Order: sequence, then structure tokens, then C-alpha cells
Amino acid sequence: MTDTTERTDVLAGVKRFALRPILAGLGAVCLAATLSIAYAEDNTSTSEATSTETARDAETAADPTSAEVGREQFEFQGCASCHGLEGEGGAGPKIAGNPAVNNADALIQRILFGGGDMPPFSHLTDEEIAAISNFVRTELNSRSELVTAEDVAAFR
Ligand code: HEC
Repeated sequence: MTDTTERTDVLAGVKRFALRPILAGLGAVCLAATLSIAYAEDNTSTSEATSTETARDAETAADPTSAEVGREQFEFQGCASCHGLEGEGGAGPKIAGNPAVNNADALIQRILFGGGDMPPFSHLTDEEIAAISNFVRTELNSRSELVTAEDVAAFR
């Protein structure tokens, strides 16, 4: 009986001793696996973001009158400095949720010719004015009919 116990003890000792590097090895493998999964996921999301951006760029390039181009122009051409980035108003009236922009023709003429304390923007291209109109109408307000470059040209 004593013999068996001793052997078991020795065996347990050997096992414990032998297990340590195995456990350490397992730990390292797990860590490596976790890291490579994290890396792979990172890579996937990066390439997804890139392809979404490429698609969006292609769409924007294909349509210079899109509301997305209009958002950039609204800021770049100075509308936002008087009306706010989200059309919330400032030196100029609030144009988000403003029924005045429901009338596309009136909006185009307002941008082309200004009025009151608003300067004219006739130096912009038909496409730029159409894009800004589409941004103002679809993003800042809930109109869905789009303005075309031809609609703008008709008022010049
Ligand atoms: C220098 C400041 C200024 C800039 C820049 C400006 N606006 Fe205005 N905007 C005004 C003012 C002031 C009015 C009100 C004029 C009035 O009728 O007395 C106005 C009026 C408007 C209206 C009519 C709102 C209504 O209730 O009738 C729209 C739409 C509008 N602006 C859009 C734009 C767009 C789009 C741009 C850029 C292309 C722009 N504005 C640039 C100052 C500005």
C-alpha cells in the first residue's frame, strides 16, 4: 500500500512537471490563434471599408449632382457658414425642415440670384447648384424628386 502511494506521488510529480511546458505551449498557441484571428478580422474590416469607399467614390464620380456631392458643396461654397452645416440656421434662416425649399424652382432661383442679404451663386456650375439643391431637399428636408443640371440651366 505504501509503495503504491509513493509511486502515485512520484507519478503526480512527473505529470505536474511534464504538464507545465505543455500548458505553456498551449497558452502560446491560444495567444497566437487569438492574435491571428484579431488580425484577420482587422484585415477584413479594412478591406470592406475600402470597397465601400470605392463604391461610394464611383457613385459620386458618376453623378456630380448627387446629394452627397451637394453636402460637400454646401460647406465648401459657403452656404453652411450662414445656414449651418445641418441647415440649422445662423446669419441666414434655418433651411432644414423649411417648406420654402419644397419648391425646387424657387430654391434654384434663390441660389442663382440670392436675394435680401443672401449673395447670388450664379458663378457655380449647373451641376453644383443641382447637387446643393438635392442635398438641401433630400437630406435637410424630406423631398425625394431630384433636381437636374438642366433644371438649373433653364433659369440662367
Ligand atoms: C452670407 C450669408 C448667406 C450665404 C453664404 C447663403 N445664404 Fe441663403 N440666405 C441668407 C439670408 C440672409 C437669407 C434670407 C434672405 C431674405 O429673404 O431676406 C437666405 C435665404 C435662403 C433660402 C430661402 C429660405 C426661406 O425661408 O425662404 C434658401 C433656400 C437659402 N438661403 C439657401 C442657401 C444656399 C443653398 C446657399 C449656398 C449656395 C446659401 N443659401 C448661401 C444668407 C446666406
